[in-house]
Amino acid sequence: MASRSSGCYARLFPGLLPMSLHLSTPRLRLRPVTHADAGFLIELNADPEVIRWVGDGPLADIDAALGVVDYLVSRQYPFGMGRLLVEEEGAPVGWCGLRRLLAGEVPDLGYRFLRGAWGRGLATEAATAVLDAGFGREDVPEVRAEADRRNPRSIRVMERLGMRWHRDFVDELGPAVEYRLDRDTWLRSRVD
Ligand SMILES: CC(C)(COP(=O)(O)OP(=O)(O)OC[C@H]1O[C@@H](n2cnc3c(N)ncnc32)[C@H](O)[C@@H]1OP(=O)(O)O)[C@@H](O)C(=O)NCCC(=O)NCCS
Repeated sequence: MASRSSGCYARLFPGLLPMSLHLSTPRLRLRPVTHADAGFLIELNADPEVIRWVGDGPLADIDAALGVVDYLVSRQYPFGMGRLLVEEEGAPVGWCGLRRLLAGEVPDLGYRFLRGAWGRGLATEAATAVLDAGFGREDVPEVRAEADRRNPRSIRVMERLGMRWHRDFVDELGPAVEYRLDRDTWLRSRVD
């Protein structure tokens, strides 16, 4: 999958290197999602607390989950980024990654973890690795993230990462907030 993604990326954006889709942190390993992860995606979205503020519903069956994987492989990874599976000690605990759906768009950071993995700093740790890799790309001077305003855990992750409030807005899901972070602010926070 990695070589297929890299090939697409090179055709779309000649001259720019993709960020690695294989990252690691002291506790975690991040890698592209594959068809073998379909069962985990079903488990993750089956928890009403996990999907409470995100706008997705449960995945109806294995075909729906395989469709999500195909979407990641065809619509996200060709941009050299995308939601990545996060594993702790070889077991999947969530996903995290940057997503860009259109060339030139400010990439958006997302994260979703099993409820049993909350409260240990794993989302912030995974997102830190993703931002280190993302800001290493010439074409990613800024990233954005959105959260429902009733989802304080997600907003706290953005704040822990040093992201700053950008705007409040209301969409079909309700009141939401967008935070942003630029490369210089990120690099300064990493050397402090
Ligand atoms: C959003 C979500 C990823 C946040 O997970 P989280 O575990 O709270 O976030 P972090 O990884 O930053 O962990 C921070 C918590 O771990 C604690 N923690 C423990 N050890 C830590 C460490 N080494 N480093 C940092 N935090 C640590 C912190 O005190 C904090 O706990 P608190 O919120 O009770 O104060 C999770 O709630 C989730 O998956 N929600 C469902 C999907 C979702 O809403 N996604 C966002 C859509 S916009």
